[in-house]
Amino acid sequence: MILLAIESTCDETGAAVLEGDGAGVPRVRSSVVSSQIGLHRRFGGVVPEIASRAHVRQVVPMIDEALKQAGVELKDVGAIAVAIRPGLVGALVVGLTAAKSLALALDVPLVAVDHLEGHLYACQLAHPDREVYPCVGLVVSGGHSSLYACRGPLDCEPLGGTIDDAAGEAFDKVASLLGLGYPGGPEIEKAARSGNPKAYAFPRTFLRDPRLAFSFSGLKTAVLYALRGPNEVRGAVQPTPQQAADLAASFQEAVVDVLVAKARQALERTGMTRLGVGGGVAANGRFREKLLAAMDAMGVETFIPPLSLCTDNAAMAGVALLKLAAGQVADLDVDVAAGLVRPKQQKG
Ligand code: KG4
Ligand code: ZN
Repeated sequence: MILLAIESTCDETGAAVLEGDGAGVPRVRSSVVSSQIGLHRRFGGVVPEIASRAHVRQVVPMIDEALKQAGVELKDVGAIAVAIRPGLVGALVVGLTAAKSLALALDVPLVAVDHLEGHLYACQLAHPDREVYPCVGLVVSGGHSSLYACRGPLDCEPLGGTIDDAAGEAFDKVASLLGLGYPGGPEIEKAARSGNPKAYAFPRTFLRDPRLAFSFSGLKTAVLYALRGPNEVRGAVQPTPQQAADLAASFQEAVVDVLVAKARQALERTGMTRLGVGGGVAANGRFREKLLAAMDAMGVETFIPPLSLCTDNAAMAGVALLKLAAGQVADLDVDVAAGLVRPKQQKG
């Protein structure tokens, strides 16, 4: 079975061609992404309307390119997959409309996937010879900071997530405060290399709280106050390079400490012995270092896909082949959903 997958949840337009039988791990025959970073850079974050318009321009060229790179034609495609949640509504609608149109025109099944389920399935795509499930899933990106108990690729129960900013969003906002570039994660990481992570004692929110929840908004404010002083919050204050490096290192350390502690807590709570990680923040070297050390100490097997599968891409929607085999086909009137599936106990 040849599957054509489409991704348009946020600011990357992706298309991929996968081949599989629904039993084993699919083979990724092509995966292409058109990033909108250049369009959003001057705003310091993703502008939804600009994102939607860029998806409209890029979705067909990306599909054409994915088919070309895989050496297949539309007539070879046996099913269409698309991420329908969570994400920006206008962005999601573009991918879903393309997917529906193709499914109708080709008379093939449409499979709707959850973007976060996809992020975690990327761990399995990256390690086709290893058992990734059951695992705790941790998705840390510009839009998400969420923990899951995944009994299987199609059985991920939400354990908790952020009650305000996502981890990557905090990196982006703090980078903007420090006058660094966009996206902020790589810039903060670079600046942090010459900084002291103990220079500022920033809060580690919920660190010892039994809830599997994150909050990064207070941390962001703490950086702002450390930079400007509590009584002087207006006007841009330019830190010295050493001050920016120390603030970046101390901020990064606080985020990493919380992410690692919550992953550990989720593993202890579920009794699971594997961890799958997805999302752009997983590119962070300090995060990988501290996470892998903590997981090694616990005897937990950790899966972090290469960057191309960690950040938004369409290949991860290859989880659709399992859905198809399980008979989970979407109707052509299926709609998008902006929000996450939330854990039962968590509000906000
Ligand atoms: O998964 P992704 O490409 O897109 C979504 O948000 O879905 O993640 C992008 C996020 C951005 O917030 C970016 O600042 C962050 O991942 N990021 C990083 C690093 N590289 C990207 N955060 C920390 N350290 C990095 N090296
Ligand atoms: Zn994502």
